[in-house]
Amino acid sequence: MSPSFNSLIDAATLTYARAGRYAYHFARSKLRHDPVFRAILKNGLLPNEGRLIDLGCGLGLLSALLIAARRQHQLGNWNPKWSTPPQRLELHGIELLDWKVEAARQALGDKATIRQGDIRTAELPACTAVIILDVLLYLNADEQRQILQRIARTLQPGGMLLLREGDAAGGLRFHATSLAEHICCLWRGQGWQALHYRSTAEWIALLEELGFSVDALPMSQGTPFSNVLFRATRVS
Ligand SMILES: C[S@@+](CC[C@H](N)C(=O)[O-])C[C@H]1O[C@@H](n2cnc3c(N)ncnc32)[C@H](O)[C@@H]1O
Repeated sequence: MSPSFNSLIDAATLTYARAGRYAYHFARSKLRHDPVFRAILKNGLLPNEGRLIDLGCGLGLLSALLIAARRQHQLGNWNPKWSTPPQRLELHGIELLDWKVEAARQALGDKATIRQGDIRTAELPACTAVIILDVLLYLNADEQRQILQRIARTLQPGGMLLLREGDAAGGLRFHATSLAEHICCLWRGQGWQALHYRSTAEWIALLEELGFSVDALPMSQGTPFSNVLFRATRVS
């Protein structure tokens, strides 16, 4: 019988028990309910080899999923309907918060390199692909542009950026996205934090201006949100 995505999540999150109950349960819930992880893996949105940098990687969930996927594929325990997972992709992450860095390192061991840093200033190593999921909303418009400019300079032509953000033109769904984020910030003790959203058209225009060709994929399936995944390829 073909393995289910939930069995892959079981494999990916086992080692989060080392990082404590909160990290373990959060990892399982996020991988199950956020459609972006499933979409990236099933649709083969990442390159097979090279180096991937996950900016604002949080607990390193994408790396955990990719590591488990590679292992399950090697064991022949893979659903043939899904794309082959990246086999030789080096996994790196940069995360601001010490406790998340520590938890990610405990869970991922030496299979991924997680650095503590602020993506606004951290050095970006040469890479084949960059992923930024739900992070740029915390930066202001100038900072968003600067980090995207630095990524464009770091990636070789053909290099890929996957960026997910809420679509500010998404109507009621956008209000749900922004409200949920504000509530999370309040719950984390960050107060009513300024959040900086753009519409899908604005993100596409900015990425094209910086030398990317862009597809926008809706990425809120099964949720009330207005998230969009931008698949941007460096062309010039
Ligand atoms: C909503 S979480 C998303 C985490 C991860 N990308 C994921 O999808 O599981 C946003 C993350 O970005 C991190 N972050 C926010 N601003 C950052 C910055 N300037 N530099 C590095 N990380 C940052 C936060 O600490 C948090 O872990």
